[in-house]
Amino acid sequence: MSSALEPRIDVLLGPDDLRHALRADVLAGLTRAPKELPPKWFYDEAGSALFEQITRLPEYYPTRREREILTSEVAAIAHLTRAETLIELGSGTSEKTRLLLAALSGVGTLRRFVPLDLNERVLRGSTVAIAGRYPGLEVHGVVGDFERHLGRAPVEGIPLVAFLGSTIGNLKPVARAAFLAKIAAHLGTNGALLLGTDLVKDPARLEAAYDDAAGVTAAFNLNLLSVLNRELGADFDPGAFEHVARWDPGAEWVELALRSRRDQRVRVAGLALEVAFAQGEELRTEVSAKFRREGVEAELEAAGLELLRWWTDARGDFALSLAVPA
Ligand code: SAH
Ligand code: TRP
Repeated sequence: MSSALEPRIDVLLGPDDLRHALRADVLAGLTRAPKELPPKWFYDEAGSALFEQITRLPEYYPTRREREILTSEVAAIAHLTRAETLIELGSGTSEKTRLLLAALSGVGTLRRFVPLDLNERVLRGSTVAIAGRYPGLEVHGVVGDFERHLGRAPVEGIPLVAFLGSTIGNLKPVARAAFLAKIAAHLGTNGALLLGTDLVKDPARLEAAYDDAAGVTAAFNLNLLSVLNRELGADFDPGAFEHVARWDPGAEWVELALRSRRDQRVRVAGLALEVAFAQGEELRTEVSAKFRREGVEAELEAAGLELLRWWTDARGDFALSLAVPA
């Protein structure tokens, strides 16, 4: 009866590749000053589940605001882009993306959905759910790193690249510029980019969004240490570190870190490494940049893209940009 196509999954990063990349990042990040790790390692099974909880927290407004914008603008996005392949970077559960899939199916152009994420289990779950919901849609998931593997996302017909959740803000400016240029190259001449960006606002609201009263974001941040313990045989005591979320008004980003509660030494057996932390020393785990329209427009332009539409929610908390090759 039902004719859901079997989703196809390309695994460009298997467990061994991931562990290899993690080793390189941890070795580099724990031996430099200040100590710093890239945020992609948050998203193991436990971290992905905690992120799902974050999206429902009262303090964490971005998900709700972005969904509000999508709800009112997906029809316009579908008509403006007439996309045939929807590629989603850092897709996670693709929960908000269903709005886009429905609108693009509605105008009748969509043929293929290509979610790309590091977390294979989450990706498999979302591809199966979406293939079941949209029979006839070709679902082709890619397990990969969006900074490295975007070029391997299959495009047929007009592409729309969606990068939601303000995940772009988790890249530092230099990496962001390089990444936007890669996206522009992947769009060809007729594609479009749909970009979600959280906006600069009252620092108290920004800090609360990354330091919720229930402690879910703290658990998410500290889970990184459990990833290192499990994957690299490290002996971090999560209780000896404290979650930090701080607005940096100069850089206009929220900086996340884990602060050592005391002088301590940590062994990372898998790297034959021993690392000293002084009391109060911070291990930076993420930045979450906040944007203004002029900045987004300038960054897009530097990548060869032109801002076609700029939408915000009613309160002006979050923005969705639709950009096309200039
Ligand atoms: N797009 C969803 C999820 C955002 S959370 C939303 O808007 O709610 C960030 C997602 O990106 C996670 O699913 C994580 O696994 C993935 N991710 C983080 N860094 C990545 C990278 N370098 N390459 C691919 N996926 C990445
Ligand atoms: N892209 C999300 C953001 O910057 C990711 C995120 C939400 C996050 N909450 C977090 C990352 C807490 C680290 C810690 O808003």
